[in-house]
Formats: sequence, C-alpha cells, structure tokens
Amino acid sequence: MTGVPGSSTAASFTTAMSLKKMAKVPERFVLPPSHRPLIYKHLHNYHSTTSSLPVIDLVPIHDPSLRSRVIEDICNACKEFGFFQVINHGVSPSLMKDVVQACLEFFNLPIEEKLHLVSEDVNKPVRYGTSLNHVKDTIHFWRDFLKHYSNPLSKWIHSWPSNPPSYKEKMGYYAKAMHLLHIELLEAIFESLGLDPKYMRREIEDGSQVMAVNCYPACPEPEKALGMPPHSDYGCITILLQTCEGLEVKLDKEDKWVPVPMIEGALLVHLGDHMEILSNGVYKSVVHRVVVNAEMERLSIASLHSLALEKYIGPAAELVNEQNPKAYKESSFKDFLDHIGKNDIMQQRFIDTLKIDNP
Ligand code: OGA
Ligand code: NI
Repeated sequence: MTGVPGSSTAASFTTAMSLKKMAKVPERFVLPPSHRPLIYKHLHNYHSTTSSLPVIDLVPIHDPSLRSRVIEDICNACKEFGFFQVINHGVSPSLMKDVVQACLEFFNLPIEEKLHLVSEDVNKPVRYGTSLNHVKDTIHFWRDFLKHYSNPLSKWIHSWPSNPPSYKEKMGYYAKAMHLLHIELLEAIFESLGLDPKYMRREIEDGSQVMAVNCYPACPEPEKALGMPPHSDYGCITILLQTCEGLEVKLDKEDKWVPVPMIEGALLVHLGDHMEILSNGVYKSVVHRVVVNAEMERLSIASLHSLALEKYIGPAAELVNEQNPKAYKESSFKDFLDHIGKNDIMQQRFIDTLKIDNP
C-alpha cells in the first residue's frame, strides 16, 4: 500500500460491522444461488439434527492407563473428519471470557481507531480487515477480522493493538495457552499416526502462530451471504473458540455441510493442509465455511499453528513406503502466503497445487 497509512484505504474500506443495520445485504455480498447456505433466519431452527461430530475429553489423556483410548478416538476423528471438539482442555473459562471481551471491545471501537491497521498485504504481521481481501474479492464476505503473529510472544506482542488497553495482556495469556495446548494436541496426533510424539518438537516450538479474530455481525439476509467461503486452513492445526454456532464442516463422503454445535467452554480443532501433507494423506485437512445469522453477532478466535515461515514440510519419512508413495510436494507457510496473494482461494486450494499424481 502506498501513501499515508490508512488514508488510501479509508474511502474503499467498509466494515461488515458498519452494515449490520441495513435492511438488505449490498449486492457485492450476494452469492450465486448454488453457493448459498441452507440457513434458516432463526438460529434456534438451525440445528434441528443432533450432530455426529466427535467431542474428545482431554482429561484421560494424562492417565497412562487411559491414554491409548483417547489416542484411538483422536485417530478416528482425524481420519473421518479432520475435525473434533475438545473439552476439559485445561484453558480456564475466565481466560476465554476475558479474551472474547477484549476482542469485542476492539471490533466496537470507532473505525478511526483501527484504520492504521488496515492492509491488503497478507505478509503484514498485524492486519485489520474485512471480507477476505476487500480489494481483490469479487464476492464479499460478512466478516471483519484482526490477524497477528503471536509466537514467540516477546517478538510480536508490542505490535498488537494498544486499544482497548487490556487487549495485549488478555490476548497474550490466551495466545500462550493456545501455543501450549497445540503442542499437547500435536503430540497426541503424531502418536495416533504411529510417529514419535516428540516428532519435529523443536520446529513446532519455534513454529509460527497466527491469531485470527473474526467478527461476524448479525446479517439481514443470512441466506444470501457467507461469513467465510469454503476453505481449509494452511497450518498443522487450528484451535478455535466460538461464541455461538456458525461454523460448518464439509463431509466429503456425503458431500454435505454439517453445522458444528456450540458446546459451552469447548475448543474446536481443525487439521490443516500441513497435517495432510505430513501424514502423507492418511489424515485430510477439513474444508469448512462460516454461515451468518440474523439474530446475533458471532465472534471466533482462531489460533493457526504452522512451522516457521520459511521452513519446508513434506510427508514424514516414516509414512512413505512402496504401498504409500510420497503424495505431496514440500512447501512452506511462505509459499502459501504467496499463493493466496496471487490467487483466488475460491478457484484453487493451495494443497491441490502440491499433490503428486502417483500411478
Ligand atoms: C478461519 C476460520 C472459522 C470461524 O479463521 O480460518 O475458518 O468459525 N474461522 O470463524
Ligand atoms: Ni479456517
């Protein structure tokens, strides 16, 4: 971006938050009918069916006599869905409540307080924006976001928003808790693949962590728009906190979208493209999207964990053999950012550019 920070964007930058009182969604948000979600106007009608999506209690994972059962459940969840929710994960409810509060305060600040953080450059370490990329998107999404790097904390925390004043402290504690939980989850996932639980431990500890805070205001015509289009996350895993339902995961075998139920206090775990590659395709990254609703604002905090920006990752040598030839090319987080900077993620997923066609 050129010119005085903020000044060149102010004219073209309209947040979803500023549109929530409109009677209709502006034309640029309206999806072609084939891409529209099946959502009812009232949230309580949305989840009429009980969900088959897995929920994993993490307490027994610390008990040597019970751990293998949990690992088996994680293996099944990863194979079948690439997604699960965790309960009893050890992150305190008050910390979760505080960080949500600080994030809501951020999104509710007057726009002038935030314009200096607006950028269409996906390489910026701190970025406030709307839709996916408000300059490039042909169809817009009903979402505002704040994204920033978070690991190591001491390197990044100073660049985070200083308003609201509690943001750095609350998000700092939360980001640290997510980094520790992600290491614990990766240990279990590696074990479930038959790898050493400490596989790539050093690279994982030094890995990159992006916090993506998403705010989806109530939407006057939720049946015509989406909060986020279908995509998979790039990294190893994403841990997501949601304040109400709205996330849907795609079940490949049935080619259908399944709503993720809201479980108070639970955290959601998505396998990302990195994990699909590392597992040589044994596990798949989960394709997901966000629907919006007419009744309430939804906030989500996604903690996206991958290896360091320029570190290459490929299938684990232990999982490649004659029956299972290497199925993906090596790639880095930086390659992914280059891909999304140049391409429309609605047209081509990054992981599809890495697949090796084996006879
Ligand atoms: C994401 C994402 C889902 C949500 O940030 O990558 O998929 O529920 N978020 O906000
Ligand atoms: Ni995602």
